[in-house]
Amino acid sequence: MYQDTIMLTVNDPDIMKAAELLRSGEVVGIPTETVYGLAADALDENAVRKIFEAKGRPQDNPLIVHIADLSDIYKYAENIPENALKLAEEFWPGPLTMVLKKKDIIPYVTSGGLDTVGLRFPAHPAAQKIIRACGKPLAAPSANLSGSPSPTTAKHVMADMMGRIPAVVDGGCCHVGVESTVVSFDESGRVCLLRPGFISLEDLSDAVGEDNVFCAHGVTEKVGENERVLSPGMKYKHYSPKANIIIAEGSAEALAELMREKHSTAVVFSGDEKYFTTPCITYGASSEEQARNLFNTLRFLDEQGIKEAYFRCPEKTGVGLAVYNRLLRAAGFEVIRL
Ligand code: TXA
Ligand code: MG
Repeated sequence: MYQDTIMLTVNDPDIMKAAELLRSGEVVGIPTETVYGLAADALDENAVRKIFEAKGRPQDNPLIVHIADLSDIYKYAENIPENALKLAEEFWPGPLTMVLKKKDIIPYVTSGGLDTVGLRFPAHPAAQKIIRACGKPLAAPSANLSGSPSPTTAKHVMADMMGRIPAVVDGGCCHVGVESTVVSFDESGRVCLLRPGFISLEDLSDAVGEDNVFCAHGVTEKVGENERVLSPGMKYKHYSPKANIIIAEGSAEALAELMREKHSTAVVFSGDEKYFTTPCITYGASSEEQARNLFNTLRFLDEQGIKEAYFRCPEKTGVGLAVYNRLLRAAGFEVIRL
């Protein structure tokens, strides 16, 4: 344990400090455009083990490896499908993770024992600076304690990681707010969506053609206890605040009426407030705003000691699908239709 967890800025001397810590095998909280990451040298098994310890994460859940140069894809992956190169050209740097056959240089501790590795080239300037200053690829899961909502501010990281890691780099609020889109590729090179994110199903289809994209089982449905999943992250209970979350499909008016019966808290779209005579919280008007505010809102519910909250169901297209996917997990798949 660490006596103190220091907060670093994104100024050059602090970036160098973060890079030094990482080079010496330590774990550092870093900003990315999606959510904060808990980073360590992806090639150093002992450093990577410290990530699992700090997070309390199951060892078979693989970590994403962050790079800061498109050509690094060839250093860490092999048998790269044509469509992967297309997606890299189109969406990197950005919130897209591609699962590819790993090269031997990536330790099994990092890949959760799999022969594949998830690679991502983040767009956040501070993340890129840290990776370059460190000179190593950085393994980084979201910087929350396993099971709690992902952190979108340095303060969230501190709340979860105080005393567990030596430092956090404060790069402000994460612009996207939900974790990266994760894709893999089937034998014929078709793109399989494992986790929706800011790069949407529609964006992927535009890049490689609709016939070359499909959605994995488990993105919007619950997977059974013993069912095999393509991505280990799908089996774990995720993003859950202490509050009991319920997703409500239907109009704001219908939800307002239900809340008058239930005396529960509603979490609705900005603009819906006018229908409510009971307590309500807003989480944004557009899907983009809802993505940016989702995890912050989940943490806020717990800070306020709210025991139960009904979320107005987000759109299921574009980045809305990512919001829906995270909310489903926070709600333990409890959805009601009004
Ligand atoms: O936006 C993000 O992706 C953030 C930031 C820090 O980059 N990171 C993140 O990592 O969300 P994490 O560990 O919380 O989620 C990674 C997800 C997990 O669901 C994991 O199972 C999946 O990606 N994943 C990683 N490597 C994989 C692999 N080789 N095969 C299948 N799934 C993989
Ligand atoms: Mg996570």
